[in-house]
Amino acid sequence: MNMKKEVSTVKQKPFFHPTFGSRPAQIVGRDQIIEQFLEGLYEPIGSRNRCTFLIGQRGMGKTALLLELADLARENDMIPAVVTAYKGMNEEIIETIQRNAAQILTKNGRQVQGFEVGAFGFSFGLTLSGANAGQAGFRTKLALLCDEMEKYNKGILLLVDETTNSDEVRQLGITYQHMIGENKNIAIVMAGLPQAVSSVLNDKVLTFLNRAEKVNLGPISLAEIKAYYVLAFRKEEIQISEDLLNEAVAATEGYPYLMQLIGYYLLRFAGTEKTVKPITVRRAIEAARHDMEENVFTPLLAPLSDTDLLFLKAMAVDGRRGSQMADIGARTGKNNSYLQPYRARLISTGIIEAPKKGKVCFTMPYLAEYLQKEVDEAFD
Ligand SMILES: Nc1ncnc2c1ncn2[C@@H]1O[C@H](COP(=O)(O)OP(=O)(O)OP(=O)(O)O)[C@@H](O)[C@H]1O
Ligand SMILES: [Mg+2]
Repeated sequence: MNMKKEVSTVKQKPFFHPTFGSRPAQIVGRDQIIEQFLEGLYEPIGSRNRCTFLIGQRGMGKTALLLELADLARENDMIPAVVTAYKGMNEEIIETIQRNAAQILTKNGRQVQGFEVGAFGFSFGLTLSGANAGQAGFRTKLALLCDEMEKYNKGILLLVDETTNSDEVRQLGITYQHMIGENKNIAIVMAGLPQAVSSVLNDKVLTFLNRAEKVNLGPISLAEIKAYYVLAFRKEEIQISEDLLNEAVAATEGYPYLMQLIGYYLLRFAGTEKTVKPITVRRAIEAARHDMEENVFTPLLAPLSDTDLLFLKAMAVDGRRGSQMADIGARTGKNNSYLQPYRARLISTGIIEAPKKGKVCFTMPYLAEYLQKEVDEAFD
């Protein structure tokens, strides 16, 4: 094998991917979660760690982690199926398993009958063919796929993004429970905003899911971000002083997207001199905040109603420390029962959260400052 040629043609992955929703070059700060998940795959069917909820606010890295777990599962004898929780999800689960099984099993050099992709979609394995495939329900199809995979010593891992309480998710939850009852080698990871996940867990039909492992995806630890920056700068042969490094790390606030953006701009602005100056750090933070406004805040706020915005601007007066509902009422001139549905909707969209009764705060760094720029003088 010509190793030399291989090395020279392999392009090194850039350290930072400053695109929201994009796959990072490396998952930072989630080692423990990943480890626990992988251990779960080797635990008995139905174990707590084989049914995981990834709970996190917007941009905390749910999708990024879900995709990483799907890849790792592949290397650990599982066929993954990543889907988004919307209508038609369960059909898509069946199709994705078949497609991924065909790809993974053929890649291993084995001839897999029944998993070829046909002109009219996917043939349904050896056990369920053509005509009756259409009539079988989700549960039957999933059970047959589990049995099919068992022949190749593979299990099935379902990964559901943007989980909300819907008929599809309820059907999936119930089906998962049946699969466990039938001792099928299946595991599941569901990712969602806190409010959406708690609605799933509180559903009467799905109470058994309360036994699942619940993982809260909070900010990434600053120490881990610093270590990643050090690694990136060293590899790129860029010099940065300890103080400036700390300043850049602190500005990320542990928010994954800001970590990507600030790192990216630091490398870019360091330029050919390959030294990070104080002005470089400030410019990088400013550019990152600008991107955050354009790519996260603008689209997030665009669909909101005037009253939603009024609510948020009334909160912005208090900045980061959070607001009492009573103060929002006084500033907007609306009473509490009028404001409640707005509060509930803003919580469910993941823009604000309620750390304790009567209080609300923003979930994302810099949103308060961004809205402050727009706050009417009337609130002053
Ligand atoms: N652990 C991580 N390490 C490095 N980068 C990360 C990590 N988690 C997320 N990112 C980066 O942060 C950004 C936001 O991540 P992601 O889209 O996964 O968030 P999310 O929780 O799915 O957000 P949403 O609720 O809006 O769907 C992406 O650019 C992603 O690459
Ligand atoms: Mg996501």
